[in-house]
Amino acid sequence: MRPVRKAVFPVAGLGTRFLPATKAMPKEMLPVVDKPLIQYAVEEAVAAGITDLIFVTGRHKRAIEDHFDSAPEMEAELARKGKAELLAIVQGILPPNVSCIYIRQSAPLGLGHAVLTAAPIVGDEPFAVLLADDLLDADRPVIGQLIDAALTHQGSILGVQNVPLSETDKYGIVATDPVGPRTERVRHIVEKPKPDVAPSTLAVVGRYVLDARIFAHLRQTQAGAGGEIQLTDGIASLMNEKPVFAHRYDGIRYDCGNKEGMFRATVALARKYHGLEP
Ligand code: G1P
Repeated sequence: MRPVRKAVFPVAGLGTRFLPATKAMPKEMLPVVDKPLIQYAVEEAVAAGITDLIFVTGRHKRAIEDHFDSAPEMEAELARKGKAELLAIVQGILPPNVSCIYIRQSAPLGLGHAVLTAAPIVGDEPFAVLLADDLLDADRPVIGQLIDAALTHQGSILGVQNVPLSETDKYGIVATDPVGPRTERVRHIVEKPKPDVAPSTLAVVGRYVLDARIFAHLRQTQAGAGGEIQLTDGIASLMNEKPVFAHRYDGIRYDCGNKEGMFRATVALARKYHGLEP
């Protein structure tokens, strides 16, 4: 398998669960302690050796582009005032060997459609997908764990964790056969099944390493759950052609797609990395 150098960040969503905070600001820019949500996902990818960051954006997402760009006026001001530490924070958001590429999703047709939008930039190499809503706190970057598993098993890898049976209808759910201590071969995958028909409680979190053949399958994928073109359905189709594995990553997941998860992440990370107590 070729090395994984590119990562896709679907960031076109409206973030209505956080209104009014997200009326004029992308939800990916909501801070957890002192960093926007998207920066956690980007840092995870960069720590795993990703050099090309592909953001699938939409209208009103310019703040994300500005965040990962240089800020000449601010940098000059901090330098003039001798604020070296702050200057280093502003200049160190991305290492110099990393590039950001932005492409717009023409219409909100679903996660599968968002990923397909990145096809011309990804080309025919394996790539990562990171959903910034899932903040994953881990000693080893979770996407790096998945990339290692992809190299070991020579296939696409989905990050998974067990969820309560009552929550299967919030996730892609897999049925699997074990192949290694943390890795399982996916036999079946279904988007947001009700608990009574879910094939298991093993849920896909927002981390994927995918074979570029996924694009051919997504092009054929019809609207599924919620009337959207689902990445899960594209993966189900890819499985007819290429092996797909589920990997039980080592790390803690905070679901920052809702207020409770955002609050939990804020408290946990404030304690762990900043020595703060509520
Ligand atoms: C998306 C995917 C789903 C996955 C989830 C992980 O759903 O469609 O398969 O389990 O992300 O966070 P969403 O949360 O966008 O509804």
